[in-house]
Amino acid sequence: MHASAVQDPTASAQLREGALILGIETSCDETAASVVRAEGGVLRVLSNIVSSQNAVHERFAGVVPELASRAHVERVLPVVHLALEQAHCTLDALHAVAVGHRPGLIGSLLVGTAAAKALAWCRGVPFLGVDHVAAHLVAGVLNRPAVQWPALGLVVSGGHTHLLWMDGPCSMRVVGRTIDDAVGEAFDKAAVVLGLGYPGGPRLDAASDQGDADAVKLPTAKLKNPLNFSFSGLKTSLLYAVRGVPSTGAPTKPPLPLTPERVRDLAASFQRAAVGQVIQRTERALAAHPAPTLLVGGGVTANRCLRAQLTALAERAGVDLRLPEMAYCVDNAAMIAGLAHYRLAAGEHDPLWLAPCPYSSLVVEEDPAAPPEA
Ligand code: KG4
Ligand code: ZN
Repeated sequence: MHASAVQDPTASAQLREGALILGIETSCDETAASVVRAEGGVLRVLSNIVSSQNAVHERFAGVVPELASRAHVERVLPVVHLALEQAHCTLDALHAVAVGHRPGLIGSLLVGTAAAKALAWCRGVPFLGVDHVAAHLVAGVLNRPAVQWPALGLVVSGGHTHLLWMDGPCSMRVVGRTIDDAVGEAFDKAAVVLGLGYPGGPRLDAASDQGDADAVKLPTAKLKNPLNFSFSGLKTSLLYAVRGVPSTGAPTKPPLPLTPERVRDLAASFQRAAVGQVIQRTERALAAHPAPTLLVGGGVTANRCLRAQLTALAERAGVDLRLPEMAYCVDNAAMIAGLAHYRLAAGEHDPLWLAPCPYSSLVVEEDPAAPPEA
């Protein structure tokens, strides 16, 4: 999704008044459907149904792709029915059907994409496939007044950590990204190291409550591109704090026992370092690419420490921060329908042969002259 893809990038920011779009989301481990209506320039969410598969994957401490696809097959139509029912809407009233068709687990994406195509085809309405990562950035616009463009976008999810320059809702380019783990992935892995289980991010967030964030000093990566992120060193440092530093022959201090109090301290220390890095890079990006609006999205925006620090950053920088409501932080279909509204208003839709794809369309434009990252 490049800036050049749309002639007038802000043209798509105008919505088609009264249009009703059904969104479907099955990219990972949530089966979701939502109906969103364009009302006086606002994306009004009429229903937002999410069926979580946490119980299916919990005992494996991570998502098992084949089990996820099977659960989507069982759940997708009941979830769509419920979304239509709660929105007091019938299939005949829809102006389009949209799906997050990339990125994600290919078997899971296939289920939602097939369902959305079948519904659009049988009602004779446009079908739209949208990029799930780009859709996360619309989450803070749902049910709220239109935003002023251009915007800086920050996506912090389980699979992506991106800073983006956005000329409009459908036109964006990556200006910073993680060179290893995504921040949500780092939270999940840290939670495993601390024995907190699955889903890791929310459990680590909760565990940090009574912890002392000064207990352990964990590092923040320094990279050649100051807008890029790295979380693998932080993760390794946490592992060493728990298990001890691997010995090179010289005697090393044994790690402190992993008592509940120590777990809370390590959780708070990890969270401070991870959130601190996100805030530092976002502040730098705002200085390098000044914009009136800061759009943020992705599961990690549910983190209370990050929410508080983003709010403080927005005050310092004087930007309109769009922090999504909790229901729209983690995976949901309202953001899918929301992004589809902007594309539909710009006169776009997709052919029924559009294939799901495991990768995001958000292309990283590498500077050929830039030295490789450390
Ligand atoms: O956006 P999302 O629902 O799925 C992806 O697109 O990846 O993000 C899921 C990620 C997971 O890594 C999860 O641990 C993290 O968001 N997450 C959190 C919190 N809630 C969800 N991380 C930190 N604190 C939270 N409260
Ligand atoms: Zn997501």
